Amino acid sequence: MKLWYETPYTKQAQQLSERLAERGVQIDLQCTDKINAKFLRLHPELALIVDGAGVSLTAQGMKMQPDWKAETGRLKRASLKSEMLARACQANDSPTLIDATAGLGHDTLLMAKFGAKITLVERHPILYTLLESAYQQAQQDTFLANVVQNITLVFADSAEYLQQASAVDVVYLDPMFPQREKTAQVKKQMQLLHMLLPEDGEMDLGDQLLEHAKKVAQRVIVKRPRYAVFLNDEPPQHQWLGDACRFDGYFQ
Ligand SMILES: C[S@@+](CC[C@H](N)C(=O)[O-])C[C@H]1O[C@@H](n2cnc3c(N)ncnc32)[C@H](O)[C@@H]1O
Repeated sequence: MKLWYETPYTKQAQQLSERLAERGVQIDLQCTDKINAKFLRLHPELALIVDGAGVSLTAQGMKMQPDWKAETGRLKRASLKSEMLARACQANDSPTLIDATAGLGHDTLLMAKFGAKITLVERHPILYTLLESAYQQAQQDTFLANVVQNITLVFADSAEYLQQASAVDVVYLDPMFPQREKTAQVKKQMQLLHMLLPEDGEMDLGDQLLEHAKKVAQRVIVKRPRYAVFLNDEPPQHQWLGDACRFDGYFQ
């Protein structure tokens, strides 16, 4: 995969390329003067970028990164009443929690803000590297540093990780679900995620994770689109329903 970088960020680009190589991704480093909207339009293929904003993924003129800083407003406003996810995971009881499908880490940030002690697992090497960069940036931020101290990143496949993990209070699962809507705010980030991760037809929908999770935790919470089928066709014991999504609860 190509990694475009602006000259002042040569060192960061090289370090990133080495880290990705250790994770099995071969990087083709490409230096350029300026990475701006025009540049992105002229280079529509899926690639990584290193510039003043850190590391991002780009394709078809779009650019995205986990951007945990942008979550600050929501995190500051978040209350148990407003956040169904925090209620479902009982995040304010400081549970030990494995988020086995990290993605951009936004759900984890919210639970960490409530005090959950989180192991955040992601198997995709590029996504994991983006998360690592978001984590390092968050450590430099006065508000986010307190939140991310509750998070430990793990680069692994959860199907394997969960089989050797010690018992925790909660496992949280949010596997990919084939994307039908193209218009929400999520669109840019999700479109890029779908380009990076396997296509819908072959996408691992995470069914087997539920069985592994139930062996590790008393409480397993699964995020689904509101009208989606149950994970692994297993009806939950309880549901928390929102407008666009729901949380299915499995209790041991
Ligand atoms: C829908 S995203 C999760 C979004 C996340 N909840 C958030 O707030 O950003 C699903 C993520 O789970 C990851 N994933 C799926 N199966 C996995 C597995 N077996 N082990 C680790 N990560 C997995 C995918 O690579 C993808 O990044």
